[in-house]
Amino acid sequence: MTDSIIGRRNSMRKQFDQIVVGGGVIGCSIAYQLSKRGYHVLLIESGTIGNGASCAAAGMLGAQAEFSSDSVLFDFARESRALFPELARELKEASGIDIELVQKGMLKLAYTQEQLNQLKKMAKFQENAGETAILLTEKAVLLKERKLAPDFLAGLFLPDDGHVSAPMLTSAFARAAQNHHAVLLEHTQVNEIIEQENGLKGVKTGNGSFYCDKLVMATGKDMTNWLPDDMAITPVKGECVSIRPDQPLIGSTIFSDGCYLVPKQDGRIIIGATSFPGITDPVVRVKSVEYLLTRAKQILPAIAYAQMENFWTGIRPQTEDGFPYIGEIPGKQGLYVAAGHYRNGILLSPMTGIMMADLIEGKAAEKYTRSFAVDRAQQAII
Ligand code: GLY
Repeated sequence: MTDSIIGRRNSMRKQFDQIVVGGGVIGCSIAYQLSKRGYHVLLIESGTIGNGASCAAAGMLGAQAEFSSDSVLFDFARESRALFPELARELKEASGIDIELVQKGMLKLAYTQEQLNQLKKMAKFQENAGETAILLTEKAVLLKERKLAPDFLAGLFLPDDGHVSAPMLTSAFARAAQNHHAVLLEHTQVNEIIEQENGLKGVKTGNGSFYCDKLVMATGKDMTNWLPDDMAITPVKGECVSIRPDQPLIGSTIFSDGCYLVPKQDGRIIIGATSFPGITDPVVRVKSVEYLLTRAKQILPAIAYAQMENFWTGIRPQTEDGFPYIGEIPGKQGLYVAAGHYRNGILLSPMTGIMMADLIEGKAAEKYTRSFAVDRAQQAII
């Protein structure tokens, strides 16, 4: 963001209704929802807005593609996906930024009998959940996506999944929050959480101390620094490449074992993604690029003639049970966490922002508060 508060720090206010730490898509969505509800919000980011996993994401809204069995998170994901059309309009108006929502579906391909059986099971489960999931023969898939290499058995078409631009969504949330009078403080490291007896919270940062009634920590993979040991978040490194074909090659997002191709609105195709649990080095390895391009070329041979554009890496924050933490830290009234969204931070960001604002106002849906509670593992034992 260009016009954050940097340079005006000395005169800035010190007391806020809420402070949100972490300027990724989750923190920005929370800051947006709270500021839209009329609260005075401070959003603090150690680097620049969206410079972590949020901007590394391909932006997929895979509320169906990413789920093969029923769960509370599946419901949360579908509710979040359903918010995007209205959110795109709302954010355009509130920020001037187009989040580049594309709703052309996802196509999951099966290359083996085992994969086909999985797709059949997935189709059944999704239909039972009231979603559209259409199993297509190879021939029917090739009528839709003519450039795919014809060596798969079948495809599962999920017409309601889509994608957005992850960097644009993150910027739009942040800009819209600013336009609702949230203060953005970039390049500011939080060194310590301040807890006072009267419940007032605050943070000591490299740029002074700030105070609030409620403090929300949303620092993705870096949450581990602030969480008890039994709530560890595992970093899972991912690498992507982008290419630019001379003409559109695919309409839908193509998903196959170990590789996806996302045709972005600006003409690029993002090819992702590797997955290395426990690895955090911020570099892209030759082997990974080689793997992604080889796999993508097997699926869509015409990419061989596209222009190479870029490659990058990001870290997904994964919790032990795969569910995010969205809740108050037990015994720490007024201190909240929103983290651990793993592969689906972009998809889950609208609902997470709303849920956190609802939690702060004491009206979040119990179904979600219980499942995403920070101490759910202990509750299950009791
Ligand atoms: N959202 C897909 C991934 O994390 O690779």
